[in-house]
Amino acid sequence: MTELAKVMKEQVGKAAAQRVKSNSIVGLGTGSTTAYTIQFLGEFLKSGALTNIVGIPTSFQSEVLAKQYGIPLTTLDAVDRIDIAIDGADEVDPHKNLIKGGGAAHTREKVVDYLAEEFIVVVDSSKIVERLGSSFPVPVEVIPMALSPVMRAIEKLGGKPELRMGIRKAGPVITDQGNMVIDVRFDSIDDPANLEKTLNNIPGVLENGIFVGVTDLVLIGEIVDGEPKVREL
Ligand code: A5P
Repeated sequence: MTELAKVMKEQVGKAAAQRVKSNSIVGLGTGSTTAYTIQFLGEFLKSGALTNIVGIPTSFQSEVLAKQYGIPLTTLDAVDRIDIAIDGADEVDPHKNLIKGGGAAHTREKVVDYLAEEFIVVVDSSKIVERLGSSFPVPVEVIPMALSPVMRAIEKLGGKPELRMGIRKAGPVITDQGNMVIDVRFDSIDDPANLEKTLNNIPGVLENGIFVGVTDLVLIGEIVDGEPKVREL
């Protein structure tokens, strides 16, 4: 990642953290952009700019970061609402529909992000696409014993499935829930809402990374005249 790209992520992550109000329950997303949001939330708590927030993590990554930056955590058993969730995305279309799951965390992210009163997505401008699936495959979390039949069912739907392999870990990526992830390329995703449901209907699929009709606001980091800027979609 270039220094400018890092600054862009930092700016957009900070802009989202600035939208969090005191006394709120906050869904903490996963990825390199929301890592900055978590860092700034911790700094705002420390400085007193923000008081009395509790976080609900969407992954081991966000849990570890929240602890590192001093954000108190809670669980969905202990609260009956989430005021705001902030999360990254791998693709965003003009209707604010998303592909998520580049970090294999889309199942917990979907639970938390869908429950939030306000859901803010933080991305850099490279994630904005005209049509979902243009550059990123759809991540599908699958229970391990169902891997082969799910792969075959996805091929019948016209998708090209590939088991996600670990980096600096031999064998497949294992999710925070102990499952595997299949990345699926489709020639064209014309109806994301329908594809989301169809994939989730395959026995053995836990959740896929298509998020439809849930995003309230997208904050986009971009470089304008050599300077990092944040705009809204
Ligand atoms: C995690 O599984 C993903 O949904 C991330 O939110 C997504 O990959 C965005 O991550 P970056 O902010 O690192 O691009």
